[in-house]
Amino acid sequence: MRVLKTDPLRPDPGVIDAAVRTLRRGGIVAAPTETVYGLFSSALSDEGCERVFRAKKRPRDNPLIVHVDSLEMAEEVGHIPSDIAEVLRRVWPGPVTVVVRSRGVVSKCVTAGLDTVAVRAPAHPIPLAIIRELGAPIAGPSANRAGRPSPTAAEHVIEDLNGEVDLIIDGGPAFLGIESTIVDVTRRPPVLLRPGPFTAEELREYFGDIAIPPYARGLAEADVAIAPGVKYRHYAPETPLVIVHFELAEAVRLLRSRGLRVAVLCAAGKCAEADGALQLGESLYEAARNLYGALRSLDRLPVDIGVVPALEEAGLGLALMNRLRKASGRREARTPEELLRIAEALL
Ligand code: TXA
Ligand code: MG
Repeated sequence: MRVLKTDPLRPDPGVIDAAVRTLRRGGIVAAPTETVYGLFSSALSDEGCERVFRAKKRPRDNPLIVHVDSLEMAEEVGHIPSDIAEVLRRVWPGPVTVVVRSRGVVSKCVTAGLDTVAVRAPAHPIPLAIIRELGAPIAGPSANRAGRPSPTAAEHVIEDLNGEVDLIIDGGPAFLGIESTIVDVTRRPPVLLRPGPFTAEELREYFGDIAIPPYARGLAEADVAIAPGVKYRHYAPETPLVIVHFELAEAVRLLRSRGLRVAVLCAAGKCAEADGALQLGESLYEAARNLYGALRSLDRLPVDIGVVPALEEAGLGLALMNRLRKASGRREARTPEELLRIAEALL
């Protein structure tokens, strides 16, 4: 396994070339995108795709996102309705993934045998240069071991996938920190499968009406193959995490009174004295960038439980609450009594 560093904004052609040569022979490459680090194979290679699933220990029925460098390349991969193509011309490259009917040209391994395919053009010079040089789309999930928080830095990839990957490109921290917004445009109105940095408010501005099912908020698991990923446990730290809807200081006091050591994930101006603190930042943008790193750090603190304030589900808050619900296994305390019940169950 090689780790090559490069400037994310002006990628070194030698590094891009090394990635392309690795992909051409069916190898796998971890590289940053504007959202999180991805683990890529050529989207046309069965062998490369198989290796991605094996390296991540990813369930076989959970398809990968196909990354393209242009709308033209996306149209070779899937059937893009013309009104959607108009929108994609304006929002790509960017953190918007659309699920469309597949043309069956990418490896069946990539789509997990579905007749739809998820496609996006990443707004990051490294993957864009790789796709352009390869002359073909690349398929990739987030470069974490299945079930772990997505990697937002090369160190996270090394932590999870050491020895499993042919090449890791270290392009510094991912710009946005949470995964792309996924919209199923095979249905009308389009259905939000996973909220992300491109907010629901922005989606409505560009796509018109969209449906937001409860699983997009992280409130339920979809157990059918509408959004295969939503049925698996995700982003989960080992340390139990609880979303708290009331005063954090009160939550910390209650948990400590039961003999628990508590860490606080501070966000949106809410924090409290505890046995450990992780700063997500003041703005929701900072919180998105810092969230997955903080979830990884939580497991290194000598605490029994973490608490995080509930965020308003507007703008980036919708995506953040979706990730927090998954990371906490939907442990949410609306009242002190509810928190005590959660704590009793953990003791
Ligand atoms: O920002 C991102 O989207 C990152 C970077 C690397 O591009 N990728 C990412 O991939 O988050 P992954 O595999 O962690 O999440 C992809 C999600 C999964 O939940 C998967 O179920 C869903 O996309 N997906 C893929 N193909 C699909 C399809 N045909 N229909 C519905 N959902 C699909
Ligand atoms: Mg993932």
